[in-house]
Amino acid sequence: MTTIGTPLSPRATKVMLLGSGELGREVLIALQRLGVETIAVDRYDNAPGQQVAHHARTIAMTDPDQLRALIQAERPDLVVPEIEAIATPALEALEAEGVTTVIPTARAARLTMDREGIRRLAAETLGLPTSPYRFCDSLEELKAAIEDGIGYPCVVKPVMSSSGKGQSKIDGPEGVAAAWEYAMSGSRVSNTRIIVEGFVDFDYEITLLTVRARGDDGEIETQFCEPIGHRQVSGDYVESWQPHPMPEPALERARQIAGAVTQDLGGQGIFGVELFVKGDEVWFSEVSPRPHDTGMVTMVTQWQNEFELHARAILGLPVDTTLKSPGASAVIYGGVDAECVVFDGVDAALRVPHTDIRLFGKPESFVTRRMGVALAYADDVDTARRNAAEAAGRVKPRAV
Ligand SMILES: Nc1ncnc2c1ncn2[C@@H]1O[C@H](COP(=O)(O)OP(=O)(O)OP(=O)(O)O)[C@@H](O)[C@H]1O
Ligand SMILES: [Mg+2]
Repeated sequence: MTTIGTPLSPRATKVMLLGSGELGREVLIALQRLGVETIAVDRYDNAPGQQVAHHARTIAMTDPDQLRALIQAERPDLVVPEIEAIATPALEALEAEGVTTVIPTARAARLTMDREGIRRLAAETLGLPTSPYRFCDSLEELKAAIEDGIGYPCVVKPVMSSSGKGQSKIDGPEGVAAAWEYAMSGSRVSNTRIIVEGFVDFDYEITLLTVRARGDDGEIETQFCEPIGHRQVSGDYVESWQPHPMPEPALERARQIAGAVTQDLGGQGIFGVELFVKGDEVWFSEVSPRPHDTGMVTMVTQWQNEFELHARAILGLPVDTTLKSPGASAVIYGGVDAECVVFDGVDAALRVPHTDIRLFGKPESFVTRRMGVALAYADDVDTARRNAAEAAGRVKPRAV
């Protein structure tokens, strides 16, 4: 049985978000609507989610001492990691001591915070199909790995990085040294380890949002959302749409893979499983044990969007992954490096039929920083994609 207390009282149900960007903000709003007391944590003040939570805290989440001190002081019922760069061993210790519950589990947060943990689990422990890969700690090891079988083209990524940072494709021997250097500059921590992956010549890639939530009998059940198609530029998503049409055998295979990896990671909540598809063949790429950026489209396509699904699942409530309408999302970029930008053209954007927007309220803009998203629904995905892109293009951030 799920019991929810009164916020700001001694009986409150308290949830702490570690990472309070645009995805965390929507999870916080969903939790607020269910009467949960929320604590939004980020590494900088006035992060998007901090603007909508009961409490805002700013710490270095990669510092185990700061993280432990905060969780011990606040005593949340649930700790919900929203980003990868967190001192996950501290979370594992706090979970083991019974201080709090980590979503979906502290082990899942640790395994997915670097590419090695999750890749070895998926490929070596679970035997799921992935691109061929090797881990390397030097340029010499990288050269040897490519010669020994990874071949060209291949993709180099720091093991500790996200959103395409430090990631590049190598087409031949002349590109190897540059890719190594680029990876060293893009790693999240002073870590020289990289993964080199054989390039998968996929037809398309999808995010399969997978929810582990309590069913009517109290047992954890796995449910899948309709596949989300997306387009990536420099490792960052530019637009997404739902549903992405797939042949039945490929969809079945995708669900098997997503089911296997999320079952192993365990716990309750939503997972964004990234998959490559070619014909009926499916490869596992990676998984986020939390809402996925390409899943922002569900704010306009599902009766319960991915943030509401996450909020419900972690609280032990039932979920419904039913599609409401085909739709699309298109990212609104900062376009300028400036603090406190203003957005012109919001009215014009919303005159595009069946659209909506989210502006994230980030205090600082960068040229390629995601500052907002446009959403559109339509009878078909193509119309929705066109309208979402049109609406996003009409919003013009401007330095003042
Ligand atoms: N082995 C590969 N073969 C072909 N394309 C790839 C491969 N690895 C990555 N990509 C492309 O690069 C994109 C980003 O890769 P990946 O998801 O591993 O990086 P990321 O930094 O974690 O990105 P994000 O944080 O945005 O998910 C993929 O969505 C895919 O389009
Ligand atoms: Mg990815």
